[in-house]
Amino acid sequence: MRTRIVAGNWKMNKTFKEAEKLITEIADALDDIPLDNKEVILCPPYLYLEMAADVAEEANFSVGAQNCYPADCGAYTGETSPVMLQSLHVDYCIIGHSERRKYFNESHEFLARKTDALLKHGICPIFCCGEVLPEREAGNHFDVVKKQLTESLFHLSEEEIGNIVIAYEPVWAIGTGVNATPGQAQEMHAYIRQLVAEKYSPGTAENITILYGGSCNAKNADELFSQKDVDGGLIGGASLKAEDFISIVTSL
Ligand code: PGA
Repeated sequence: MRTRIVAGNWKMNKTFKEAEKLITEIADALDDIPLDNKEVILCPPYLYLEMAADVAEEANFSVGAQNCYPADCGAYTGETSPVMLQSLHVDYCIIGHSERRKYFNESHEFLARKTDALLKHGICPIFCCGEVLPEREAGNHFDVVKKQLTESLFHLSEEEIGNIVIAYEPVWAIGTGVNATPGQAQEMHAYIRQLVAEKYSPGTAENITILYGGSCNAKNADELFSQKDVDGGLIGGASLKAEDFISIVTSL
């Protein structure tokens, strides 16, 4: 059975004190929620990972980073390596987010290297994919996602792909208040699972966790998460308030 996940992508938000408060509120609330075969992941900015990891030791959530650089160490001013993340007990790392593709020109090939670097150090990549609006309007959304997966993930072995979480995030839905309909999400998630089945095996496809992201909130999470191939969500804006985030977790 695949793991169902709600992950909070805080992006570049919160001061240290605010982050501490939010993490504590979420940790306290999670104490009362049964999480069988379900996982909650908090992805705060790098600066707060250590604090989050300390709280996570006694709490019901895991910690993820929002980015990494694909080298163990060296002269890469301003960057953070998977080795460093691993040393803080960070178990997940978001890669391929559309904001990084857009503002930092991250290529498919660069993301393939990040994937390899993370897996080498036992960190699970949360690999984001998804089309922009003109691509959907032109009917190219399936091809766009196929290319993203093929060029950044499909060099992996069957065992390695089993250690990846995929997040389908249509770019037109991110931070816009316009979520994909449950039908649109299900259609793409089923397509992604089919691609994994064709490249690897039906068993591997059945076990891979595929999250939906893009204006997922406390109101629409129930319906989105009830779709057969939607295994949870990657949550941006709605992860910044404990009450909203916890409400989404209870929809898992
Ligand atoms: P959003 O962001 O929930 O604010 O739309 C999701 C994401 O960017 O991961």
